[in-house]
Amino acid sequence: MKFKILLGAALVAATTGTAISAEDPIAVRKAMMKNVGAATGVGGAMMKGEMEFNAVAAELVLRTMNTAALGFGELFPAGSESGGQSTASPKIWEDRAGFDAAVAKFAADTASGIAAKPADLDAFKAAFGAAAANCGSCHKAYRVKK
Ligand code: HEC
Repeated sequence: MKFKILLGAALVAATTGTAISAEDPIAVRKAMMKNVGAATGVGGAMMKGEMEFNAVAAELVLRTMNTAALGFGELFPAGSESGGQSTASPKIWEDRAGFDAAVAKFAADTASGIAAKPADLDAFKAAFGAAAANCGSCHKAYRVKK
């Protein structure tokens, strides 16, 4: 039942919080990242043995990350740099090619993980580990601490 509760938490994160307007790319990109954070929580719980490995949950975790990666770069149009609510680094707009490459790598690594169809915890550890390595590397380069 822990499985259901944790997935429930991920889904709640997707549907609650601030209302998302298409004219508000900051809110959209933060919501996408919140979903990624929730999915990572579920994956991490399986990695740590706090939650039993489940192939359906494993796929959902990787798919949630992959969905967030697709089109993520478009949520950083010129003019959305500032705003007290964002932790996006100015480096995104100074080094757009580098940021786009980081987004593309996240999309590719999560797609590989989905394609691998991890059927046991060891396979999931490899797929999830490769996907989650992107969090820190992108955040370090393209996010500021508040
Ligand atoms: C390609 C770059 C990139 C990758 C990869 C990435 N993030 Fe992010 N993340 C960002 C940026 C940029 C922000 C800041 C967005 C803003 O505040 O405008 C962010 C913000 C966040 C936030 C804060 C959201 C909020 O409510 O302010 C969380 C949580 C998060 N990321 C989790 C993750 C996790 C977990 C992973 C890996 C599975 C990940 N991110 C991978 C770029 C990335």
